[in-house]
Amino acid sequence: MTERTCVVYGASELVVGPPSGDGDDSPLETLENGAFAAVDGEVVAVGETAEILREHPPENADVAVDADGNAVVPGFVDPHTHAVFAGDRSDEFEAKLRGKSYQEILEDGGGILRTVRATREAGDDELLENLLGHLDAMLARGTTTVEVKSGYGLDTETELRLLEAIDRADDAHPVDLVPTFLGAHAVPEGEETDDYVDRVVEEQLPTVESQGIAEFCDVFCEEGVFDVEQSRRVLEAGREAGLTPKVHAEEFTRLGGAELAADLGAASADHLLHATDEDVEAMRAADVVPVLLPGTAFGLGADYADARAFLEAGWPVAVATDFNPNCHSRSMGFVQTLSCVEMGMTPAEALRASTSAAARALDRDDGTGTLGVGAPADAVVLEAPSYAHIAYRFDTPAVDTVLKGGEVVRS
Ligand code: NIG
Ligand code: FE
Repeated sequence: MTERTCVVYGASELVVGPPSGDGDDSPLETLENGAFAAVDGEVVAVGETAEILREHPPENADVAVDADGNAVVPGFVDPHTHAVFAGDRSDEFEAKLRGKSYQEILEDGGGILRTVRATREAGDDELLENLLGHLDAMLARGTTTVEVKSGYGLDTETELRLLEAIDRADDAHPVDLVPTFLGAHAVPEGEETDDYVDRVVEEQLPTVESQGIAEFCDVFCEEGVFDVEQSRRVLEAGREAGLTPKVHAEEFTRLGGAELAADLGAASADHLLHATDEDVEAMRAADVVPVLLPGTAFGLGADYADARAFLEAGWPVAVATDFNPNCHSRSMGFVQTLSCVEMGMTPAEALRASTSAAARALDRDDGTGTLGVGAPADAVVLEAPSYAHIAYRFDTPAVDTVLKGGEVVRS
């Protein structure tokens, strides 16, 4: 078989990834006038343009992209979304502006439960079409890998249909999808929480396991939803079924989800608006990646997570859109803006949180989220001379061309 070759060159600034040298405490390693070459979707050389073009002349490459003095960065990794659903909850936006809380909406059968009703009624093709549309929007904004959770089915059949839609979209779309089972997203109307936990553990998880259709198991550990013990039951059963734990933790209250994540060695604990110093320490000791979701706080008008507490503890945070009907953002660029303006992160920290740190939250150790040798050739050519413009321009994404696996998938 012949090899597919790719070269991207002429970058005013090429962001390679986290620093490779010891003692370098800058969040990112960058190269001036940079280039990279890839073979069969994998980066094989990174360096200065003149040096790379000597070995990999553009005229010999199947794919050649002249960045023409713009910056090139790794494709964004969005490690927390609920992107597969049906229905519309835009009217809840106004209800929230009038002072109704997220929990009050949920208690009245709105919120997640309303999306569950619409999702159960939708056909498989509608669910797939919705998801593909969202993936198009994400790709146009520079995202090349995205985690997607189920969780709007809350019964075995619909949870499975959602995971199948994720699987089909992964095949049909250039963006890479990472599937997470979130049967424990809410308690269905008219059901007791413990009975529903029984059903998740005894019916849903065995079906998900037998289909081999999810990689992670998540739970909404929150006051009035699933408590710590119920969450532990779901995540331990998930682990038995081969799924790595993740936790929605400390979003509205400090309930103990972060400690649970540490105790179970979860890949990540997400939200963390109310995490304490002890939570930061416990997560660091157990290598649990903090995934912060500033778009959710923005949409709710809530206080933001304390990103600096994690960063000062030497613990690189990840950030994600949390795209869902309560947080309608598909832009990792806007998430980086919020990370800087509202959480006190630098543009470099925000970009690292959106790339290599985000890949860690998904247990990807193949170089995803970097452009180092051996990494997937997933890259964004910006229409700007430096990565600082990603967070700086908050109305339109500073994205010109997107490459996935060494192919141009958006220009
Ligand atoms: O992460 N908090 C729980 N789940 C989602 C919201 C889902 C919804 O409101 O539909 C979140 O923000
Ligand atoms: Fe979420």
